[in-house]
Amino acid sequence: MTRSARRLLVLLAGLPALQTWCGWARLPRRLGRLSRSSLEGLEGLEGLEDLEGLEDLESQLERSLEELKHLETPEEARERYATVLEVEEKHRKGTARHFATPIYRSALSVDAASLAALNEEVLEATAQLRERDAAGRAWCQENYPGGFTSFGSARQLHKEWKALADLKRMLKAHLRAFLQEGNMPGVPPLESLHMTECWVNVMGEEATHGFHTHDYANISGTYYVQTPPGCSGLRFEDPRVDRTAQLDQRLVLEYPVRAGDVILFPSWLRHEVPPSGPAVRESERVSVSFNFAGR
Ligand SMILES: [Fe+2]
Repeated sequence: MTRSARRLLVLLAGLPALQTWCGWARLPRRLGRLSRSSLEGLEGLEGLEDLEGLEDLESQLERSLEELKHLETPEEARERYATVLEVEEKHRKGTARHFATPIYRSALSVDAASLAALNEEVLEATAQLRERDAAGRAWCQENYPGGFTSFGSARQLHKEWKALADLKRMLKAHLRAFLQEGNMPGVPPLESLHMTECWVNVMGEEATHGFHTHDYANISGTYYVQTPPGCSGLRFEDPRVDRTAQLDQRLVLEYPVRAGDVILFPSWLRHEVPPSGPAVRESERVSVSFNFAGR
């Protein structure tokens, strides 16, 4: 028997084992056909020395075996069908709600004294930064009139200020809760998420921040340091409405903000801060924004 013929017989003998391994009733229909046609092809050969015919059959089989490697495993298929099964089981009839958007809000889980110390430290450091950061102030004149943000000049404050390194640690429990409750496909697990950016925002009467998303991040959020009564909240746009829809057709939800609270949301969710007006004349609205991304 030639070497090619031996290889072909080995391949044919291996097919049923591969089918069992895949455990898939539907999967090897093509292979079954191929196997049959291969055997018919074998029978039609003049003899095993018909090398050309054997080599054709052999390469056909090898291609198919190669394709088999790329077929999904039963575990992968179960995962893929999980949502289909969920719909089957839970919503056989009637109206169901899908594609919910998770937004998290909570008071930072620390005692009142620690919270007051944290806010005081951030306020003081922010005032000092604003004083010395000429480039940042120039950036704000152009991009953030009526307020000061370090977004344009200092976006790694969690690595520079102890208070914000502490805040980062305090946020971990909230991030964990958001990931558990939020059910956000595609967001890396907690162990892989890292704070990639962190900056401060001070908003005066006219300061505003139009609708935007946060690039290169999975989870974004804001911690509120100082929120005078009546200051504007954080507004989220309903992501189900196509962005080409008329502005007045877009639903917007405003989360009121309170000092000591943290709000987390998926980075792709469009949000804005409208001007607060006279509510912040005496005391400005101060917050810390941040991004978390997978590493
Ligand atoms: Fe933002």
